[in-house]
Amino acid sequence: MERIKILGNENLRLKGKVRISGAKNAVLPAIAASLLTKDKVRLKNIPLVKDVYTILTVMKELGANSNIKKNTLSIQVKKTKSEQASYELVQSMRASILVLGPLLARFGKAVVALPGGCAIGSRPIDLHIHGLEKLGASISLEHGYINATAEKLHGTEIKFEKKTVGGTENLIMASSLALGETVLKNCSIEPEVINLCELLVKMGARIDGIGEETIRIKGVSELGGATHEIIPDRIEAGTFLVASALTRGNIVLTHVRPDHLDTVIEKLKYSGTQIEKLNNNSLRAIGSEKIRPQDITTSSYPGFPTDMQAQFIVLMTQASGTSIITETIFDRRFSHINELLRLGAIIEVAGDKALVKGNTPLSGAETIATDLRASASLVLAGLIASGETVVNDVEHLDRGYEKLEAKLKSLGARIERIKE
Ligand code: EPZ
Repeated sequence: MERIKILGNENLRLKGKVRISGAKNAVLPAIAASLLTKDKVRLKNIPLVKDVYTILTVMKELGANSNIKKNTLSIQVKKTKSEQASYELVQSMRASILVLGPLLARFGKAVVALPGGCAIGSRPIDLHIHGLEKLGASISLEHGYINATAEKLHGTEIKFEKKTVGGTENLIMASSLALGETVLKNCSIEPEVINLCELLVKMGARIDGIGEETIRIKGVSELGGATHEIIPDRIEAGTFLVASALTRGNIVLTHVRPDHLDTVIEKLKYSGTQIEKLNNNSLRAIGSEKIRPQDITTSSYPGFPTDMQAQFIVLMTQASGTSIITETIFDRRFSHINELLRLGAIIEVAGDKALVKGNTPLSGAETIATDLRASASLVLAGLIASGETVVNDVEHLDRGYEKLEAKLKSLGARIERIKE
């Protein structure tokens, strides 16, 4: 098991330039989409993170051939050798559920393990299942597996009872090869959903309303290959913006999409961080001596992202007053708080709210990560905690951050990975 060791101090000032990687949450659905065609799909600017290798293992099991050169993935599924995504892979990465819709649409059959609960709540997939049944799939849940079959999916109208990023992505992919038109209502409009739609259109899908809450998909008989660029990771970018705010640093982020970070930038500016757009794909963030407290409520895009909640809580421990952070997307996404308490934070949790006391100097400690963004928040805390902080079980971090410690080290952090 690998660990990350950080020698932090409150006088650390991160300085320099960091290149943001492609978005994990955009590349995963894009890889699943390659199931929809027998032709080759090429994805540029992919992040070399653990979740990419996990979904490529799932895809290989299904019959895909793929290779990665630098940060470009070529993948092709000429035919399937199985329609089963195994339990050990799906339980290690919930996003494997994204193969369900494409498998059904192209091959009429899918056997996908039910994703287990994970560190951030129960995370059911009922909205995926109901939507696919409305498209004509027969679905049974047996022995922990979803068994789905469909002679041919047919278009219909589906309204999501709540916003679901994965559900929206699965249903758009399934509908792209269905007979007739599908209207999806109350869709998620995250940039990653838009990036997927743009890929599907390049493959020949007929999609109207991209980026809106109502999307119309006219099914086609088959889709072809395409070359597509994965958008920058707005959550990795947000994590570095918080790192600059936290250390009163001065860092430039390149290969970002500032327009995907409006709410995060607005909240950081309110707390005192100076953020300027240098051009369409780079930002400078200069942290302020005084960090203003503020209440934050997470919500679907374009609201404040739940994936930035843990990182922002760390910043609020250094604010000049108390903040209330409300988590509305997941029912148990405060697992990082127990670990932050051990570093000296003063945070009280009541239901979906965390009351974060400011002006709390942190001191280094041994910590354990439980999910991807919780891990990132512990690394951030370690930057300013006096003494040594160790973040164990960094495989969570590696799921979604490419070379995080090397990037932070290049900005002046004293951080290293220990391979045991
Ligand atoms: C995606 O997860 C992201 N993952 C998550 O990022 C992100 O936090 C989440 O969207 C919300 O923005 C990927 O894109 C791979 P949801 P997803 O379906 O699609 C409930 C990270 O750290 N729900 O939008 O799984 C669900 O329990 C990860 O990068 C149902 O009730 O999230 C949750 O409370 C973490 N039934 C809420 O909806 C369903 O059928 C939002 O889930 C589906 C979801």
